[in-house]
Amino acid sequence: MRVLVTGCAGFIGWRVSELLIERGHEVVGVDNMNDYYDVRLKEWRLKRLKDLGNFTFYRVDVEDYEGLKEVFRKHNFDAVVNEAARAGVRYSVKDPWVYIRTNVYGTLNLLELMKEFGVKKFLLASTSSVYAGQKMPFREDFPVNTPISPYAASKRSAEILSYTYHHLYGIDVAVLRYFTVYGPAGRPDMSVFKFIYRTMKGEPIEVFGEGNQSRDFTYVDDIAEGTVKALEVKGYEIINLGGNRPHKLNELIELVSRFTGREPKVVRRDPVNVDMPSTWADISKAKELLGWEPKVSFEEGVRRTVEWFEKNWSWVKDLKVL
Ligand SMILES: NC(=O)c1ccc[n+]([C@@H]2O[C@H](COP(=O)([O-])OP(=O)(O)OC[C@H]3O[C@@H](n4cnc5c(N)ncnc54)[C@H](O)[C@@H]3O)[C@@H](O)[C@H]2O)c1
Repeated sequence: MRVLVTGCAGFIGWRVSELLIERGHEVVGVDNMNDYYDVRLKEWRLKRLKDLGNFTFYRVDVEDYEGLKEVFRKHNFDAVVNEAARAGVRYSVKDPWVYIRTNVYGTLNLLELMKEFGVKKFLLASTSSVYAGQKMPFREDFPVNTPISPYAASKRSAEILSYTYHHLYGIDVAVLRYFTVYGPAGRPDMSVFKFIYRTMKGEPIEVFGEGNQSRDFTYVDDIAEGTVKALEVKGYEIINLGGNRPHKLNELIELVSRFTGREPKVVRRDPVNVDMPSTWADISKAKELLGWEPKVSFEEGVRRTVEWFEKNWSWVKDLKVL
């Protein structure tokens, strides 16, 4: 297949692109390389993709319809995987406009171009954040109409818009609700990256609340595998991709301590009201529909992530971390 991956220099877009190429597909990637977090991390991922071959990159913004149209004109895509997004929950309260522009308007641009160029397969990266207020474990058929952050509201909007294009133009759509993804070269605004980075630097880590909040942490390679499998989906399906075993933040701190061999210095802060207290995915649909389940345990995933930090510390230590 020839696949357009948006946000290919991002954490998940990079691993999904790598896996697609490994499996013999051709990847065309777009990314606007914005500086929400340190761009050196995006450049590092992009370089690895370019070294693989079977990969073409365009620095294009998904908000730019004409720019995207040029890319669609040059390549005949079999599928579009939309990983490009503004993805930080807390920052979405500060600048909700850019979340709507990229996550909603950007998705609309892609869907319109798919209609125009006859591309029939769309994967949308969505999020466990849409489940705010629901009982756990979260199932795909829950009503999800109470997002508690502009980020979650923007992703829910994109999910709904994708349904409309499936209905009107027969595009196969898989909406993938990812649960707290972590791993090597991850996102510096997320706990796993921040905790390892700061502990290795001997700096304090901030914990909002008592650290008893839990997340259904999912290793990035498992997410990439589930995403590539979702290319088989027909019709319109919403699918949770989650670790299926929630872990408390305090557990993460213990693992970071164990694998870095250093004692994290914890600073407690008041809880933030855009954060969900806990997340937990029911993954029976992913098992049934895709034959997918996560393979990497939290312990092993954190170990591999620390290993990546150690191997890359010469440049990673100078990154600007939010
Ligand atoms: N990491 C997680 O835990 C998680 C959880 C749930 C959902 N998601 C979703 O998965 C997707 C990938 O997330 P990630 O963690 O890799 O984030 P990321 O920020 O590392 O990757 C997103 C990429 O999209 C690019 N991008 C942003 N706006 C763009 C625009 N207007 N035009 C072109 N490119 C743009 C960024 O430069 C970045 O490289 C996102 O849609 C995110 O909402 C992530």
